[in-house]
Amino acid sequence: MLFPPKDVIGIDIGNYSVKLVCLTEEKKVVRLKDWGYIPLSIKADTTPEEKKSIISEEIKTYLKKKGIQTRYAATAISGNSVIVRYVKLPKLSKKGLAMTISVEAEPFIPFDIKDVNLTYYILNDTSDEGEPKMDTVLVAAKRDAVQDKIDILTGAGLEPLIIDVDSFALETLYERIAPKGDTNSVLLLNIGQKVTNLSIISQGVTRVVRDIFIAGTTFDKAIAKALKSDLAAAAAAKKNRVLLVSDEDKEAVIADFDREGIAVSKAASGVLRDLYTEVSRSIDFYLSQGVEHSISKIIISGGMSNLGNITKFLSAEFKVPVEIANPLSFLPEAPNNMPKDVLPALAVAAGLALRKIKDWEE
Ligand SMILES: Nc1ncnc2c1ncn2[C@@H]1O[C@H](COP(=O)(O)OP(=O)(O)OP(=O)(O)O)[C@@H](O)[C@H]1O
Ligand SMILES: [Mg+2]
Repeated sequence: MLFPPKDVIGIDIGNYSVKLVCLTEEKKVVRLKDWGYIPLSIKADTTPEEKKSIISEEIKTYLKKKGIQTRYAATAISGNSVIVRYVKLPKLSKKGLAMTISVEAEPFIPFDIKDVNLTYYILNDTSDEGEPKMDTVLVAAKRDAVQDKIDILTGAGLEPLIIDVDSFALETLYERIAPKGDTNSVLLLNIGQKVTNLSIISQGVTRVVRDIFIAGTTFDKAIAKALKSDLAAAAAAKKNRVLLVSDEDKEAVIADFDREGIAVSKAASGVLRDLYTEVSRSIDFYLSQGVEHSISKIIISGGMSNLGNITKFLSAEFKVPVEIANPLSFLPEAPNNMPKDVLPALAVAAGLALRKIKDWEE
Protein backbone atom coordinates (compact mmCIF):
# COMPACT_ATOMS: atom_id res chain seq x y z
CA MET A 1 0.00 0.00 0.00
CA LEU A 2 1.44 3.35 -1.03
CA PHE A 3 -0.35 5.55 1.45
CA PRO A 4 -1.31 3.86 4.70
CA PRO A 5 -4.93 4.69 5.50
CA LYS A 6 -5.25 7.08 8.39
CA ASP A 7 -7.94 5.38 10.38
CA VAL A 8 -8.90 1.77 10.73
CA ILE A 9 -11.84 0.29 12.63
CA GLY A 10 -10.99 -2.59 14.92
CA ILE A 11 -13.98 -4.87 14.58
CA ASP A 12 -14.49 -7.97 16.68
CA ILE A 13 -17.18 -10.22 15.21
CA GLY A 14 -18.19 -12.50 18.08
CA ASN A 15 -20.89 -15.11 18.50
CA TYR A 16 -22.82 -12.88 20.87
CA SER A 17 -22.03 -9.38 19.71
CA VAL A 18 -20.00 -7.27 17.30
CA LYS A 19 -17.70 -4.77 18.94
CA LEU A 20 -15.96 -1.91 17.20
CA VAL A 21 -13.33 0.60 18.18
CA CYS A 22 -11.79 3.27 15.98
CA LEU A 23 -8.89 5.31 17.30
CA THR A 24 -7.21 8.27 15.77
CA GLU A 25 -3.93 9.87 16.67
CA GLU A 26 -3.11 13.55 16.47
CA LYS A 27 0.11 15.00 17.82
CA LYS A 28 0.83 11.75 19.69
CA VAL A 29 -2.50 11.88 21.49
CA VAL A 30 -4.78 8.93 20.89
CA ARG A 31 -8.46 9.73 20.75
CA LEU A 32 -11.51 7.48 20.50
CA LYS A 33 -13.10 8.33 17.18
CA ASP A 34 -15.91 5.78 17.23
CA TRP A 35 -17.02 2.77 19.18
CA GLY A 36 -19.89 0.38 18.89
CA TYR A 37 -21.53 -2.60 20.49
CA ILE A 38 -24.02 -4.51 18.37
CA PRO A 39 -25.75 -7.42 20.12
CA LEU A 40 -26.59 -10.23 17.72
CA SER A 41 -29.49 -12.55 18.18
CA ILE A 42 -29.22 -15.14 15.49
CA LYS A 43 -31.70 -18.00 15.54
CA ALA A 44 -30.30 -21.47 15.92
CA ASP A 45 -31.63 -22.71 12.56
CA THR A 46 -29.96 -19.93 10.52
CA THR A 47 -27.65 -21.21 7.75
CA PRO A 48 -24.02 -20.00 7.79
CA GLU A 49 -24.60 -17.94 4.62
CA GLU A 50 -27.68 -16.25 6.10
CA LYS A 51 -25.80 -15.62 9.31
CA LYS A 52 -23.02 -13.83 7.45
CA SER A 53 -25.42 -11.55 5.62
CA ILE A 54 -27.37 -10.77 8.80
CA ILE A 55 -24.14 -9.71 10.51
CA SER A 56 -23.08 -7.65 7.48
CA GLU A 57 -26.41 -5.86 7.49
CA GLU A 58 -26.22 -5.18 11.24
CA ILE A 59 -22.77 -3.63 10.84
CA LYS A 60 -23.77 -1.63 7.78
CA THR A 61 -26.86 -0.24 9.51
CA TYR A 62 -24.84 0.67 12.57
CA LEU A 63 -22.14 2.49 10.57
CA LYS A 64 -24.80 4.43 8.73
CA LYS A 65 -26.77 5.32 11.86
CA LYS A 66 -23.64 6.62 13.59
CA GLY A 67 -22.33 8.37 10.48
CA ILE A 68 -19.08 6.42 10.64
CA GLN A 69 -17.07 7.17 7.50
CA THR A 70 -13.98 5.03 8.09
CA ARG A 71 -13.82 2.27 5.50
CA TYR A 72 -10.78 0.23 6.51
CA ALA A 73 -11.18 -2.56 9.02
CA ALA A 74 -9.06 -4.94 11.08
CA THR A 75 -10.66 -8.06 12.48
CA ALA A 76 -9.65 -11.33 14.14
CA ILE A 77 -10.48 -15.00 14.34
CA SER A 78 -10.32 -17.43 17.24
CA GLY A 79 -11.59 -20.78 18.42
CA ASN A 80 -11.61 -23.86 16.24
CA SER A 81 -10.54 -22.10 13.09
CA VAL A 82 -7.09 -21.03 14.15
CA ILE A 83 -4.16 -22.64 15.85
CA VAL A 84 -1.16 -20.88 17.37
CA ARG A 85 1.94 -22.86 18.24
CA TYR A 86 5.25 -21.76 19.73
CA VAL A 87 7.79 -24.16 18.23
CA LYS A 88 11.50 -24.56 17.62
CA LEU A 89 12.35 -24.79 13.92
CA PRO A 90 15.77 -25.46 12.35
CA LYS A 91 17.85 -22.33 11.84
CA LEU A 92 17.40 -21.32 8.22
CA SER A 93 17.73 -18.13 6.18
CA LYS A 94 14.53 -16.17 5.63
CA LYS A 95 14.36 -17.50 2.09
CA GLY A 96 15.10 -21.06 3.14
CA LEU A 97 12.36 -20.97 5.75
CA ALA A 98 9.86 -19.47 3.29
CA MET A 99 10.50 -22.40 0.98
CA THR A 100 10.25 -25.14 3.57
CA ILE A 101 7.75 -23.73 6.05
CA SER A 102 4.79 -25.87 5.07
CA VAL A 103 6.87 -29.02 5.52
CA GLU A 104 8.36 -27.80 8.81
CA ALA A 105 4.99 -26.70 10.14
CA GLU A 106 2.95 -29.71 9.11
CA PRO A 107 3.69 -31.85 12.20
CA PHE A 108 2.43 -29.06 14.47
CA ILE A 109 -0.79 -28.28 12.65
CA PRO A 110 -3.81 -30.51 13.28
CA PHE A 111 -5.51 -29.35 10.05
CA ASP A 112 -4.80 -30.28 6.47
CA ILE A 113 -2.03 -27.88 5.49
CA LYS A 114 -3.84 -27.22 2.19
CA ASP A 115 -6.85 -25.75 4.02
CA VAL A 116 -4.97 -23.18 6.05
CA ASN A 117 -3.29 -19.83 5.67
CA LEU A 118 0.05 -20.27 7.36
CA THR A 119 1.89 -17.34 8.92
CA TYR A 120 4.97 -17.41 11.09
CA TYR A 121 7.10 -15.02 13.09
CA ILE A 122 10.65 -15.74 14.16
CA LEU A 123 11.09 -14.71 17.78
CA ASN A 124 14.75 -15.41 18.48
CA ASP A 125 17.64 -17.79 17.89
CA THR A 126 17.97 -20.71 20.24
CA SER A 127 19.42 -24.19 20.27
CA ASP A 128 18.22 -27.70 20.91
CA GLU A 129 20.70 -30.40 21.88
CA GLY A 130 23.51 -28.44 20.25
CA GLU A 131 21.59 -27.83 17.01
CA PRO A 132 20.94 -24.17 16.09
CA LYS A 133 17.21 -23.47 16.10
CA MET A 134 14.77 -20.58 16.01
CA ASP A 135 11.88 -19.97 18.40
CA THR A 136 8.98 -19.42 16.05
CA VAL A 137 5.27 -18.68 16.34
CA LEU A 138 3.21 -20.60 13.82
CA VAL A 139 -0.28 -19.41 13.05
CA ALA A 140 -2.50 -21.63 10.94
CA ALA A 141 -5.86 -20.12 10.11
CA LYS A 142 -8.50 -22.09 8.24
CA ARG A 143 -9.02 -20.47 4.87
CA ASP A 144 -12.82 -20.65 5.00
CA ALA A 145 -12.94 -18.99 8.44
CA VAL A 146 -10.76 -16.16 7.17
CA GLN A 147 -12.94 -15.87 4.07
CA ASP A 148 -16.09 -15.69 6.24
CA LYS A 149 -14.72 -12.65 8.07
CA ILE A 150 -13.70 -11.03 4.80
CA ASP A 151 -17.18 -11.67 3.37
CA ILE A 152 -18.88 -10.16 6.43
CA LEU A 153 -16.76 -7.02 6.29
CA THR A 154 -17.03 -6.49 2.54
CA GLY A 155 -20.76 -7.19 2.80
CA ALA A 156 -20.92 -4.31 5.29
CA GLY A 157 -19.13 -2.02 2.84
CA LEU A 158 -15.81 -2.18 4.65
CA GLU A 159 -12.37 -3.01 3.32
CA PRO A 160 -10.60 -5.68 5.40
CA LEU A 161 -6.93 -4.82 5.86
CA ILE A 162 -5.90 -7.20 8.61
CA ILE A 163 -7.16 -10.54 9.85
CA ASP A 164 -5.55 -11.04 13.24
CA VAL A 165 -6.05 -13.59 16.03
CA ASP A 166 -8.06 -12.66 19.17
CA SER A 167 -5.18 -13.59 21.47
CA PHE A 168 -2.71 -11.40 19.59
CA ALA A 169 -5.12 -8.47 19.71
CA LEU A 170 -5.35 -9.00 23.47
CA GLU A 171 -1.55 -9.04 23.66
CA THR A 172 -1.38 -5.73 21.75
CA LEU A 173 -3.91 -4.28 24.16
CA TYR A 174 -2.03 -5.53 27.20
CA GLU A 175 1.23 -4.00 25.95
CA ARG A 176 -0.54 -0.68 25.91
CA ILE A 177 -2.37 -0.86 29.23
CA ALA A 178 0.30 -2.69 31.27
CA PRO A 179 2.12 -0.66 33.88
CA LYS A 180 5.46 0.59 32.52
CA GLY A 181 8.41 -1.69 33.25
CA ASP A 182 6.10 -4.55 34.18
CA THR A 183 8.25 -7.60 34.84
CA ASN A 184 5.54 -9.87 36.15
CA SER A 185 3.72 -12.69 34.44
CA VAL A 186 0.06 -12.10 33.82
CA LEU A 187 -2.72 -14.36 32.70
CA LEU A 188 -5.30 -12.86 30.36
CA LEU A 189 -8.73 -14.48 30.12
CA ASN A 190 -11.16 -13.11 27.56
CA ILE A 191 -14.43 -14.87 28.34
CA GLY A 192 -16.96 -14.52 25.53
CA GLN A 193 -19.95 -16.51 24.37
CA LYS A 194 -18.47 -19.65 22.80
CA VAL A 195 -14.79 -19.34 23.62
CA THR A 196 -12.41 -18.13 26.31
CA ASN A 197 -9.09 -16.86 24.98
CA LEU A 198 -6.23 -17.53 27.39
CA SER A 199 -2.77 -15.95 27.17
CA ILE A 200 0.15 -15.95 29.55
CA ILE A 201 2.44 -12.98 29.04
CA SER A 202 5.74 -12.74 30.83
CA GLN A 203 7.91 -9.63 30.57
CA GLY A 204 6.19 -8.56 27.41
CA VAL A 205 6.47 -11.95 25.70
CA THR A 206 3.54 -14.29 25.16
CA ARG A 207 4.39 -17.74 26.46
CA VAL A 208 1.13 -19.64 26.18
CA VAL A 209 -1.98 -19.05 24.08
CA ARG A 210 -4.94 -21.31 24.04
CA ASP A 211 -8.67 -21.16 23.40
CA ILE A 212 -10.90 -22.97 25.88
CA PHE A 213 -14.45 -23.89 24.96
CA ILE A 214 -16.01 -22.94 28.27
CA ALA A 215 -17.71 -19.55 28.01
CA GLY A 216 -21.08 -17.76 28.15
CA THR A 217 -23.07 -20.55 26.51
CA THR A 218 -21.71 -23.06 29.00
CA PHE A 219 -23.03 -20.89 31.85
CA ASP A 220 -26.41 -20.48 30.15
CA LYS A 221 -26.79 -24.24 29.72
CA ALA A 222 -25.81 -25.02 33.31
CA ILE A 223 -28.16 -22.36 34.68
CA ALA A 224 -31.03 -23.48 32.41
CA LYS A 225 -30.60 -27.00 33.72
CA ALA A 226 -30.59 -25.84 37.35
CA LEU A 227 -33.64 -23.59 36.90
CA LYS A 228 -35.40 -25.96 34.49
CA SER A 229 -35.80 -22.96 32.21
CA ASP A 230 -34.96 -22.14 28.60
CA LEU A 231 -31.63 -20.63 27.59
CA ALA A 232 -33.00 -17.08 27.26
CA ALA A 233 -34.31 -17.10 30.82
CA ALA A 234 -31.02 -18.58 32.02
CA ALA A 235 -29.03 -15.85 30.23
CA ALA A 236 -31.21 -13.21 31.87
CA ALA A 237 -30.78 -14.80 35.32
CA LYS A 238 -27.01 -14.83 34.77
CA LYS A 239 -27.06 -11.06 34.28
CA ASN A 240 -29.22 -10.35 37.33
CA ARG A 241 -27.56 -12.66 39.83
CA VAL A 242 -24.19 -12.79 41.53
CA LEU A 243 -21.83 -15.57 42.55
CA LEU A 244 -22.12 -16.22 46.26
CA VAL A 245 -18.54 -16.19 47.45
CA SER A 246 -18.29 -14.83 51.00
CA ASP A 247 -20.35 -15.93 53.98
CA GLU A 248 -22.14 -12.56 53.87
CA ASP A 249 -23.16 -13.16 50.24
CA LYS A 250 -24.63 -16.52 51.19
CA GLU A 251 -26.36 -15.32 54.33
CA ALA A 252 -28.07 -12.53 52.41
CA VAL A 253 -29.75 -14.86 49.91
CA ILE A 254 -30.63 -17.41 52.59
CA ALA A 255 -32.27 -14.62 54.62
CA ASP A 256 -34.32 -13.71 51.52
CA PHE A 257 -35.28 -17.35 50.79
CA ASP A 258 -33.91 -16.64 47.33
CA ARG A 259 -33.81 -20.16 45.88
CA GLU A 260 -33.19 -18.99 42.36
CA GLY A 261 -30.23 -16.87 43.49
CA ILE A 262 -28.69 -19.90 45.17
CA ALA A 263 -29.31 -22.15 42.17
CA VAL A 264 -27.80 -19.68 39.69
CA SER A 265 -24.72 -19.16 41.84
CA LYS A 266 -24.25 -22.89 42.27
CA ALA A 267 -24.53 -23.59 38.55
CA ALA A 268 -22.26 -20.71 37.56
CA SER A 269 -19.69 -21.67 40.22
CA GLY A 270 -19.57 -25.19 38.81
CA VAL A 271 -18.78 -23.86 35.34
CA LEU A 272 -16.11 -21.54 36.74
CA ARG A 273 -14.50 -24.48 38.55
CA ASP A 274 -14.30 -26.35 35.23
CA LEU A 275 -12.75 -23.28 33.68
CA TYR A 276 -10.36 -23.10 36.63
CA THR A 277 -9.25 -26.70 35.98
CA GLU A 278 -8.53 -25.96 32.32
CA VAL A 279 -6.71 -22.72 33.09
CA SER A 280 -4.66 -24.46 35.79
CA ARG A 281 -3.45 -26.96 33.19
CA SER A 282 -2.12 -24.10 31.09
CA ILE A 283 -0.47 -22.52 34.12
CA ASP A 284 1.17 -25.85 34.98
CA PHE A 285 2.37 -26.18 31.40
CA TYR A 286 3.81 -22.68 31.57
CA LEU A 287 5.53 -23.34 34.91
CA SER A 288 6.95 -26.64 33.62
CA GLN A 289 9.05 -24.67 31.12
CA GLY A 290 11.32 -23.63 33.97
CA VAL A 291 10.23 -20.01 34.08
CA GLU A 292 11.30 -17.52 36.73
CA HIS A 293 7.96 -15.88 37.34
CA SER A 294 4.78 -17.49 38.50
CA ILE A 295 1.49 -15.79 37.60
CA SER A 296 1.16 -12.60 39.64
CA LYS A 297 -2.11 -11.30 38.28
CA ILE A 298 -5.14 -12.32 36.23
CA ILE A 299 -6.88 -9.83 33.97
CA ILE A 300 -10.28 -10.78 32.66
CA SER A 301 -12.22 -9.30 29.78
CA GLY A 302 -15.10 -10.24 27.49
CA GLY A 303 -18.81 -9.96 28.22
CA MET A 304 -18.68 -12.69 30.87
CA SER A 305 -16.40 -10.59 33.07
CA ASN A 306 -19.63 -8.75 34.01
CA LEU A 307 -20.85 -11.78 35.95
CA GLY A 308 -21.44 -10.47 39.48
CA ASN A 309 -18.58 -11.27 41.89
CA ILE A 310 -16.52 -13.06 39.24
CA THR A 311 -13.24 -11.37 40.28
CA LYS A 312 -13.91 -12.24 43.91
CA PHE A 313 -14.63 -15.86 42.96
CA LEU A 314 -11.59 -16.27 40.72
CA SER A 315 -9.15 -14.61 43.10
CA ALA A 316 -10.30 -16.98 45.84
CA GLU A 317 -9.73 -19.97 43.50
CA PHE A 318 -6.42 -18.92 41.96
CA LYS A 319 -5.11 -17.10 45.03
CA VAL A 320 -3.83 -14.18 42.97
CA PRO A 321 -5.38 -10.76 42.35
CA VAL A 322 -7.97 -10.73 39.57
CA GLU A 323 -9.09 -7.56 37.85
CA ILE A 324 -11.39 -6.59 35.01
CA ALA A 325 -9.62 -5.02 32.05
CA ASN A 326 -10.30 -1.45 31.07
CA PRO A 327 -9.43 -1.66 27.38
CA LEU A 328 -9.64 2.11 26.97
CA SER A 329 -7.53 3.12 29.96
CA PHE A 330 -4.94 4.69 27.64
CA LEU A 331 -7.35 7.42 26.57
CA PRO A 332 -7.01 10.85 28.15
CA GLU A 333 -10.72 10.70 28.92
CA ALA A 334 -13.08 7.77 29.16
CA PRO A 335 -16.20 8.06 27.00
CA ASN A 336 -19.09 9.01 29.26
CA ASN A 337 -21.90 7.48 27.23
CA MET A 338 -20.69 3.89 27.35
CA PRO A 339 -22.65 1.30 29.39
CA LYS A 340 -20.48 -0.22 32.11
CA ASP A 341 -20.87 -3.80 30.86
CA VAL A 342 -19.77 -2.89 27.32
CA LEU A 343 -16.29 -1.72 28.30
CA PRO A 344 -14.66 -5.11 29.11
CA ALA A 345 -16.21 -6.61 25.97
CA LEU A 346 -14.23 -4.14 23.83
CA ALA A 347 -10.84 -5.72 24.61
CA VAL A 348 -10.26 -7.49 21.28
CA ALA A 349 -11.63 -4.58 19.23
CA ALA A 350 -9.40 -2.13 21.12
CA GLY A 351 -6.36 -4.35 20.58
CA LEU A 352 -7.12 -4.48 16.86
CA ALA A 353 -7.49 -0.71 16.69
CA LEU A 354 -4.23 -0.22 18.60
CA ARG A 355 -2.31 -2.62 16.42
CA LYS A 356 -2.98 -0.31 13.52
CA ILE A 357 -1.49 2.67 15.26
CA LYS A 358 1.48 0.62 16.40
CA ASP A 359 2.14 -0.82 12.93
CA TRP A 360 2.28 2.54 11.24
CA GLU A 361 4.54 3.94 13.94
CA GLU A 362 7.18 1.28 13.48
N1 LIG B 1 -24.03 -7.89 32.34
C1 LIG B 1 -23.71 -9.17 32.08
N2 LIG B 1 -23.68 -10.10 33.07
C2 LIG B 1 -23.34 -11.39 32.83
N3 LIG B 1 -23.01 -11.85 31.60
C3 LIG B 1 -23.02 -10.97 30.59
C4 LIG B 1 -23.36 -9.60 30.76
N4 LIG B 1 -23.26 -8.98 29.55
C5 LIG B 1 -22.90 -9.92 28.67
N5 LIG B 1 -22.74 -11.12 29.28
C6 LIG B 1 -22.37 -12.40 28.66
O1 LIG B 1 -21.16 -12.24 27.95
C7 LIG B 1 -21.15 -13.17 26.87
C8 LIG B 1 -20.74 -12.46 25.59
O2 LIG B 1 -19.46 -11.94 25.69
P1 LIG B 1 -18.70 -11.33 24.43
O3 LIG B 1 -19.50 -10.23 23.86
O4 LIG B 1 -17.31 -11.04 24.85
O5 LIG B 1 -18.77 -12.60 23.44
P2 LIG B 1 -18.41 -12.72 21.91
O6 LIG B 1 -17.12 -12.02 21.65
O7 LIG B 1 -19.56 -12.26 21.06
O8 LIG B 1 -18.29 -14.31 21.75
P3 LIG B 1 -17.11 -15.25 21.19
O9 LIG B 1 -15.82 -14.51 21.31
O10 LIG B 1 -17.16 -16.46 22.05
O11 LIG B 1 -17.50 -15.50 19.78
C9 LIG B 1 -22.54 -13.75 26.76
O12 LIG B 1 -22.54 -15.07 27.28
C10 LIG B 1 -23.38 -12.82 27.62
O13 LIG B 1 -24.49 -13.47 28.20
MG1 LIG C 1 -15.10 -12.64 21.61
